[in-house]
Amino acid sequence: MALFITFEGGEGSGKSFQANVLFKLLARDEIPAIQTREPGGTPIGEEITKCLKWQDTPISPLAELLLFNASRSHLIETVINPALKEGKVVICDRFTDSTVVYQGFGRQLDMETIEKVNNLATGGLKPDLTILMDILPGIGLARKRGQKRDRFEKECLSFHNRIRRGYLELAAREPERWLVIDAGKSKQDIAREIWLKVRPLVKPKRDDDIEIPDTFSAEGTAESDLKTNDNKVENTGE
Ligand SMILES: Nc1ncnc2c1ncn2[C@@H]1O[C@H](COP(=O)(O)OP(=O)(O)O)[C@@H](O)[C@H]1O
Ligand SMILES: [Mg+2]
Repeated sequence: MALFITFEGGEGSGKSFQANVLFKLLARDEIPAIQTREPGGTPIGEEITKCLKWQDTPISPLAELLLFNASRSHLIETVINPALKEGKVVICDRFTDSTVVYQGFGRQLDMETIEKVNNLATGGLKPDLTILMDILPGIGLARKRGQKRDRFEKECLSFHNRIRRGYLELAAREPERWLVIDAGKSKQDIAREIWLKVRPLVKPKRDDDIEIPDTFSAEGTAESDLKTNDNKVENTGE
């Protein structure tokens, strides 16, 4: 069943980690799915990402907005829309909400312009479910300590605080679309919370198979990180 799921949140909040876990759980249950990311996700998108994240020369906020949306438009046309048409679940690590938050709340670019350009790029495509990995910026950034910082990660703490506030504001405006996760919790607890939300959306409910195994792993993650003694998911009958 076609379903468009996006992950949002600040730096180091665990978006990529949980996107990988969700993708693996869908694969385990033989639910057709693809995993992609923004910016990037296509060869041209990855080139645009290099400019956006790793160029040392300044980029004007409007140029930044247009570059993100150039990457987005191509990704939607060549990857996301075809997969949705085939009835697949699409998992995207960041999407338009990142632009509203980073370019709007962060760079303080005019919101109306952002909405217009975003809408032009998406042609009206909206996520069915957006998972917000909410964390104190200091904690998220500390998780990535030691890794090379991109243009956004190098921004000051007040920028990252505006990002967090922006996300919470967007989530409060559309609570039916957003699942807000306390991203300070353990990886396993978060994986379980996300799976409990997604599982009933992708397959008719069954009592016997919504269990997270203790053997799955996510890219760049030790399997032991995910193991706990309490790895069963209970069907709450929601
Ligand atoms: N719940 C968690 N608790 C502790 N560390 C985590 C958690 N989730 C992810 N991490 C670790 O934090 C780092 C950043 O995670 P990542 O998924 O890359 O974040 P993002 O994609 O949001 O920037 C990685 O080393 C990851 O293993
Ligand atoms: Mg990431």
